[in-house]
Amino acid sequence: MSRLIGLIFATILLSHSYALTTNPLVARTSPTGLTAKFQSKGKKFWGSAADPNTLSKPGVVDILQREFGQVTPEYSMKWDATEPSRGVYNFDQSDQLVNWAVSNGKLIRAHTFVWHSSLPSWVQGINDHDTLTNVIANHVGALAGHFKGKVYCNISNGLSRFQWDVVNEVLNDDGTLRDSVFSRVLGESFIPLAFKVARDVDPGAVRYINDYSLEWDSPKTRAMVDLVNRINANDGSQMIQGIGSQMHLEPGKTGGALSALQILAGANVQEIAITELDIEFASPDDYKTILSACLQVSKCVSITSWGVSDTDSWRASFTPLLFDGNYNPKQAYHDVIGAMS
Ligand code: XIL
Repeated sequence: MSRLIGLIFATILLSHSYALTTNPLVARTSPTGLTAKFQSKGKKFWGSAADPNTLSKPGVVDILQREFGQVTPEYSMKWDATEPSRGVYNFDQSDQLVNWAVSNGKLIRAHTFVWHSSLPSWVQGINDHDTLTNVIANHVGALAGHFKGKVYCNISNGLSRFQWDVVNEVLNDDGTLRDSVFSRVLGESFIPLAFKVARDVDPGAVRYINDYSLEWDSPKTRAMVDLVNRINANDGSQMIQGIGSQMHLEPGKTGGALSALQILAGANVQEIAITELDIEFASPDDYKTILSACLQVSKCVSITSWGVSDTDSWRASFTPLLFDGNYNPKQAYHDVIGAMS
């Protein structure tokens, strides 16, 4: 009998020690890197956009492993990549990114279920209420189901979950609903529809609404808070759990970020995040201002840069990122690290 108990105990210990020793979050990121410094300030992670095209570059992979604690697929989870024709799903590229992230202990901000851009023409052409409702429900269900539960580690300290940008860029800069096939056919109702399906399929993932031009006290920033509060009130719970502010910024336009994050944090959500940060010409002061704004707002849980090196940036000519074309850290990187040391 005691031999049996011994055996069971050894098995548990073995499996537990495997989990402990292979916890990549601790193993791979440098303790002096961006995400470790940011976590030392009580935040969840500092991440970066990536995808198989950038994961094929050793220079990028080294920096991702050392500096960043999370990745966002830059294109591979978008509708045109994942469901190019109705009911035909393609996860080749997105699985590569997710598998790389899992095996390197990186968290994932999944991006994005419903967006008016990178949208196949077969969706754009739908003008029937019931058809579009089914198409959205099937798409969100298929993606949430495919990736469900892929990243659960360290559940205890809340670092664990998959985050989803359930809907992206639904508002105009004046705060009105953006014109898209979704709003034309379903009005505002496509938003709670997408969130409901995401919640039903993977209640463990954190559900975000994501948009740009939310970095100052604008009609759009206030309309975002009203939209979220209205939808959550109608649902009677935090159907929308997070607000993502993309922050694709121009130089010197960072002064309004603190008050904008405070306004967004005032919404009925559990968290907010900076989700696609890049700043034209990457001035150290601009980056420090954004960092300081997030550090001062407790609901601001994470920052994600929209890429590692200027070479791969979607705005490369503006050299907006923290690492230059040769993968060398810029002055902005050193100043951001300095500000957290
Ligand atoms: C951009 C990618 O960076 C580009 O490579 C792609 O050609 C277009 O999309 N808002 C978003 C992101 O939510 O998904 C966009 O990413 C940039 C703006």
